[in-house]
Amino acid sequence: MQSMRLVILDKYDDVSVWAAKYIRRRILAFKPGPDRYFTLGLPTGSTPLGTYKKLIEYYKAGNLSFKYVKTFNMDEYVAIPRDHPESYHSFMWNNFFKHIDIDPANANILDGNAVDVQKECDDYEKKIAAAGGIELFVGGIGPDGHIAFNEPGSSLVSRTRIKSLAQDTILANARFFGGDLSKVPHQALTVGVGTVMDAREVMILITGAHKAFTLHKVIVFNDTSLYR
Ligand code: PGA
Repeated sequence: MQSMRLVILDKYDDVSVWAAKYIRRRILAFKPGPDRYFTLGLPTGSTPLGTYKKLIEYYKAGNLSFKYVKTFNMDEYVAIPRDHPESYHSFMWNNFFKHIDIDPANANILDGNAVDVQKECDDYEKKIAAAGGIELFVGGIGPDGHIAFNEPGSSLVSRTRIKSLAQDTILANARFFGGDLSKVPHQALTVGVGTVMDAREVMILITGAHKAFTLHKVIVFNDTSLYR
C-alpha cells in the first residue's frame, strides 16, 4: 500500500529548505554515475522557486551535482514559442537549469509546439520508461487541486496527453500574462496522474492560505482511500 506523509512547516522558506534538502539527500543516497542516472520529475510555478534557489546554492557550494541527473518536467503550454518568457522552457532555464551543471540533453520538457502532439506525449512516456522511470517526482498543486495540468476530473490512471486548462487555472495563471486572460494559453501538454503515480516517490509542495482547502481535500481523500 502506498503511504502518505504530511510535513507541516511554518513558512514558505522552511518548505523550500526542507524540500531542497530532501532532494539533495535522495540524489546523494542514490550515488548517481555515468551508468546510473537519478531521474527527477520537476514542476514550474511560484511554489518551487525557493526550492530551486536552495538547490542552486548547494550546487554553487559544491555540495550537489546534477551531472548524472535526468529531469522530466511535468508540463508545457501549447502553442507559445519556446523562448516566450512565460513558456515553461524559459521558466526552467532561467530559474534553475542555467545555474547548475545539468547536461541540457538530460533536461526533458514537453514540446508544446510539436506538429504531432500525441506522438510527442507518447514519446515522452517512452523516454521516462527508457530512463528507468522517475525516482522522485516533485510537484505543486493548483487551487482547484490539479497536479501538473491534470484538471479536476482527470483520470487517476491518465498518461501524458493534451489537456484544456480549467477556467480557474486560466484565471490563476493570468498574473503571468499581464492579467490578460486572452493571452493565457488554453491548452497544455501534461504528464498524467498515472505518470506521476508511477514514480518511486512523489513530493507535492503546497504553500499559501489559498490552498488550505485543497490540502484539506487531499488529506481527506487519502484517508478514505486507505479504507477502500
Ligand atoms: P503555483 O502553481 O506554484 O504557481 O501556485 C502550482 C500549480 O498550479 O500547479
